[in-house]
Order: sequence, then structure tokens, then C-alpha cells
Amino acid sequence: MSFSEFLPTAKGAAQLAGEVLRSWAERFTITEKSPANLVTEADIAAQAAIYDFISKRYPDHNFLGEEGLNESHPNSTFRWVIDPLDGTSNYAHRFPYYAVSIGLECDGELVCGVIYDPTRDELFWTVKGDGAWLNDSRLSTSRNLTLDKAMLMASLPVAVRAHHPAVNRFLRAVGQAQTVQRSGSAALNLAYIAAGRLDGFWSTSLLPWDMAAGVLLVREAGGVVTQLDGGTFRLERPSLLAANGESLHREMVSMLS
Ligand code: IPD
Ligand code: CA
Ligand code: CA
Repeated sequence: MSFSEFLPTAKGAAQLAGEVLRSWAERFTITEKSPANLVTEADIAAQAAIYDFISKRYPDHNFLGEEGLNESHPNSTFRWVIDPLDGTSNYAHRFPYYAVSIGLECDGELVCGVIYDPTRDELFWTVKGDGAWLNDSRLSTSRNLTLDKAMLMASLPVAVRAHHPAVNRFLRAVGQAQTVQRSGSAALNLAYIAAGRLDGFWSTSLLPWDMAAGVLLVREAGGVVTQLDGGTFRLERPSLLAANGESLHREMVSMLS
């Protein structure tokens, strides 16, 4: 079965959500779900637009979305995994590094994904077996093979404190990689690895909607994705280590785990 038939729907939904984010940009209000964990009307409205767009075409599919969306149809093997706005803190501060992320699973396997950055009109997309793409250009990961040549990115937990193990890990990497950054959008970090703009990324505090589309993008661009200790990646677990290829991946596992 080719999964490319789902791509126009995924792209259309992501672009529509991008419009919604733009339309709220000058008038949103911010609510804290928990300390430093933000949500705005834009998150909610973008998810509603995505759900409406996809469910009209595929009413029997399952849905999981960050803003309280969890719909199960026991007879369907498909599940859409949606983050309507990955990088809400950035959006709320008008820092232009955030994205819409939509992944599709079939029988628990990632088969299609799109990540849309409305600030740059960049649409990253992938279908299992068909490669990773940015707009009309095929993507492949970078060739920086060692830590001393690598630009790495980390996601730290929301409201993280200085003594947290994730901060220790970050500091360890600062001493070894060429550059280490924290950006605020896990989805866009993964898209950037696929695009060769970033060499590696890790986190131990992610949720399925942060990762679904981006993991397939990285793999289809030639990269490697596992848990932090090198174990098999699982969407339902918070641990992720993504790298441009085997060599850097090996160095990152031994540095971080
Ligand atoms: C967040 C971003 C961030 C990561 C957080 C996520 P949100 O997603 O992906 O990079 O560090 O753990 O919650 O809340 O902006 O959708
Ligand atoms: Ca997110
Ligand atoms: Ca979100």
C-alpha cells in the first residue's frame, strides 16, 4: 500500500493550521496549563481546524492531539498524531521558531508526516519509503560525523530547575560538541536534522505529538532515531535521540546515556 494518498490531506491541514496561527498572532491571550507550560487560543483553534479538515475526509480514523483530542475507532488501523503548535512559548514571545506537526500511523508504524513553519512558509513532508522533502526539494542529513564538528540541540523539560539531570546532560554536551542549543520546538528541530541544518537532537521529556512527524522525516532523510540510551524508539516514551547518521549517533549515545 502506498501511503502517499494521505499526503495532500496532511499538507492541507498543516497549512490551514498555519493560517490560523497567523490570524491569532496579534490577539492571543496566554494561559498557563501548569507553571511555564503555556497555551493560547491559537493552539486550540489550530487543532480544531486540523481535526475538522482531516476528519471530514477520514471520519473513521483515530486521532491524538495535544489539546485534549483523543478519539478512538476500534476498527481503524490509522491514527493521526497532532501538535497544532509546537513551540508555544516561542509563539507567545513572538520568537519565530514554531511549527504545526501532523504525523500518521498505520498499525502503530509512522507512515506519513508534515511539519509546517508558518513564519518561513516551509513545509517539511515525508511518506514512508518516498524520502523527506522541504517544499519541492529532497532532503538529506548533514555529514558532520563527529561531536567536535556537530551542532546539537536539546529539549529540556518545561520549568526545569538547575539541579535536574537533563541540565547536567546538557552541560556535558556543551563541553564536547562544537555547539549546543535549546530552541523550544522539538518538531522543528527534527525537521532541521532532516534538512541538514542541525546534526543531532535529544530529549527525555517529549510526548507523541512532539515527535511523530519529525521522527519519520529524520529517518527518511538518512538519519537515525532511538531512545537516549540507543534502545528502540517508541512514540509513547519520552526519550529520543536523533542524529544525522550512525557515526554521530554512536558518539551522542556514549556522551549522553
Ligand atoms: C514543547 C516543545 C519544546 C519541548 C517541550 C514541548 P509545545 O512543545 O516541543 O521544544 O522542550 O517539552 O512541550 O508545548 O510548545 O507544544
Ligand atoms: Ca509540542
Ligand atoms: Ca503544542
